[in-house]
Amino acid sequence: MQINSNNYIQYSSYQPHFTSCSRDVYDLVGKLVHRNDTSFFRRDMDWNKFTHYLADKSDIYCLASSSGDEVYTVIMKLIEKFGDDAKRFYPIKAYDKDPHIIKMANEGYLPMYDCDEDIINNCTNDKFNEYFEKISEDDIPEYLKKMDIVYDFMAKVKPILRDKVIFSVADATEQCKSINSDKAVVLARNFWPYLKDESQMIKFANDLYKNLGKNSAVVIGDYDALCSNAAKNLHDAGFVANTELFTVFEKLKLPETNTILKYYY
Ligand SMILES: C[S@@+](CC[C@H](N)C(=O)[O-])C[C@H]1O[C@@H](n2cnc3c(N)ncnc32)[C@H](O)[C@@H]1O
Repeated sequence: MQINSNNYIQYSSYQPHFTSCSRDVYDLVGKLVHRNDTSFFRRDMDWNKFTHYLADKSDIYCLASSSGDEVYTVIMKLIEKFGDDAKRFYPIKAYDKDPHIIKMANEGYLPMYDCDEDIINNCTNDKFNEYFEKISEDDIPEYLKKMDIVYDFMAKVKPILRDKVIFSVADATEQCKSINSDKAVVLARNFWPYLKDESQMIKFANDLYKNLGKNSAVVIGDYDALCSNAAKNLHDAGFVANTELFTVFEKLKLPETNTILKYYY
């Protein structure tokens, strides 16, 4: 299904492999508004290289977190690679404009498919049970059962992960204006095609560039790269694509003004 402008690849031709939270949200006339689809260790990122990239960064923001799989993926990798040295990243700030999904994330519930357990075990040296606890149908709150999410089992996120992230309801296009730290990494992944139109995407990219401090970066996903002009919008705003991680766009440190003047004269 096409979400936005006719310039983009048809949504139906974009068929990634999702696990975990799978939920479509429609408006009152039955039009698709957005999907909460997300995955642990989503395959559009080299998570080992990305964790290595985080070594000289200081803050992590996630602007369209859905149920939290993406931030939990990052935290599991941070624990593995940096141990206690990863403390500076916590709490990670995660936002989504969907209040239902944020309520679920805040309460630490995670709908999962059976393959999620395998994926997490494969990527963490069998630590699924350290991070998550499967719960029975009887322990699932009524509001969650009514949310129309497809899953094999429901899990609760254990404090070792849950306590390292704060989830809040916010629109990414507004929230990006209050991120002003240096060395920040902003996950703005797999939601650009849900923005209203091209001009909103251009404004979002420009606002990110204007507000992020130096040596910060914005990360997009394959849905954004394939079904929107996110990469071009970020490039036009001033970001430079990282040469190893092509979905990472950096706000590079600019030379001091007097260096530019010296060169010019
Ligand atoms: C397909 S999921 C992507 C989740 C995750 N970032 C990932 O890459 O797996 C898209 C999410 O973006 C959220 N979303 C859509 N438009 C948004 C906006 N303007 N601000 C914040 N969240 C938004 C939706 O509610 C949904 O949960």
